[in-house]
This record gives sequence, structure tokens and C-alpha cells, in this order.
Amino acid sequence: MLAPNEDSLTPTETVALVLNLVFAGHATTVNLIANGVAALLTHPDQLALLRDDPTLAPDAADELMRWCGPTPRALPRYATEDLDLGECPIRQGEAVLPVLAAADRDPRAHPDPDRLDITRARTRPGSPHVGFGHGAHRCVGDRLALQEAQIAWTALWDRFPEPTLAIAPQELVREAHPNSWKLTALPVHLHP
Ligand code: HEM
Repeated sequence: MLAPNEDSLTPTETVALVLNLVFAGHATTVNLIANGVAALLTHPDQLALLRDDPTLAPDAADELMRWCGPTPRALPRYATEDLDLGECPIRQGEAVLPVLAAADRDPRAHPDPDRLDITRARTRPGSPHVGFGHGAHRCVGDRLALQEAQIAWTALWDRFPEPTLAIAPQELVREAHPNSWKLTALPVHLHP
């Protein structure tokens, strides 16, 4: 990005792009990692499956994105013409706020959607989640985020094989943030 050539970005473009990548890519991935740890600690059967078969890691990452992805909503879209979406008429110029988390719990796409099942992709391929959005503005950092999360989860359990939640699951607190499914804290005991 910094190498001078005829396609060089201006300093303003460079700063804007770096800020965009850091803000779009940092907190989101941090929250996915924490949400995933909380989910696995509260679903020991799923954690056992993953530990028995590490090749499940990519599927687990996608299922955790679906089940506890950190970005419940996309940015607003504005209708360029009148349309009907499902049974809902939308007029030109009106805003639509896609709720990704609702789509990812839609039983028509994901049977028994509230169940965390890291083998879901194997038993029912072709039903991907939309936690990274959809279409032209789908997240550009999706592969990086999933890799980072898998590395973090693997490193945690390699280093501390038996972490446990230090509080009851119902005591986990989420921040009241409009577009972030985010824990305020994740207290764990690293050793039993
Ligand atoms: C778990 C982590 C992440 C989640 C849940 C996430 C989620 C999303 C979602 C839902 C969108 C689409 C928003 C919309 O359509 O309104 C998006 C776009 C975007 N993401 Fe991510 N993201 C993550 C990680 C990253 C990373 C690691 C990067 C960069 C290194 C990144 C950079 C971007 C950028 C630049 C866009 C805008 C793309 C565009 O408008 O064309 N994201 N992300």
C-alpha cells in the first residue's frame, strides 16, 4: 500500500483504509473469539467433539459465527425502487436494516437453529451463515477472521486443556451495543 507507483493511495486514503481495516477487523474478531470460548465452555459436548477431531475446526468456526457471531446487523441499505420483500412492501428510498443474526437463526435455513452443532456443515452442507454479510459488501476479512479465531481457540486449549467458566453461564453479561454481540467480561479459571 505504501510503495510509490502510479496507483499509489493518497495519504488520506491510506489512513482511511488502515482505520477501516483495524476497526472493522479487530473488535469483531476479538468478540468472535470470546463468544466462541463462552459457547464451547457452556457446551462441553461440542468442545469434546472438536478436541477429539481437530479437522472439525473450520466447521466449528462457521457454526460459532452462525450461533454467536459478533455482528448481529449489517449496515442499512436504501431501496432504489419499490419492491416487496417477503410480505413486506418497501418503497423507493426507504431504509432496510438487515438483521444477520435473525437470518442465522431462521429454521427454514438452519433446522433446530438454536442448537449449537459444530458438525452441522457436514450433515447439511450448502446452508452457510450470513454473519459476514452477503453480496457486494460481504466482509473482505472473513477468511482472516476465521483463521485468527481458530488459531486462538486452538492455542488456548493447547496451553490450558481444562479451562472452566469462573461464573455461572447466566451471569455472563453482554454489552448493550446496537451492532455488537459482545461480552463485557469472560471470567475463566485456566486450571481446574
Ligand atoms: C469475526 C470477524 C468479523 C465479522 C463478524 C465481520 C462482519 C462484517 C459484516 C457483517 C460486513 C458487511 C456489512 C454490511 O454488509 O453492511 C463486513 C464488512 C467488512 N469487513 Fe468485516 N467482519 C469481521 C472481520 C473483518 C476483518 C478481519 C477485516 C479486515 C481485516 C474486515 C473488514 C471489513 C471491511 C473492509 C468491510 C466492508 C466491505 C465492503 O463494504 O465492501 N472484517 N464485515
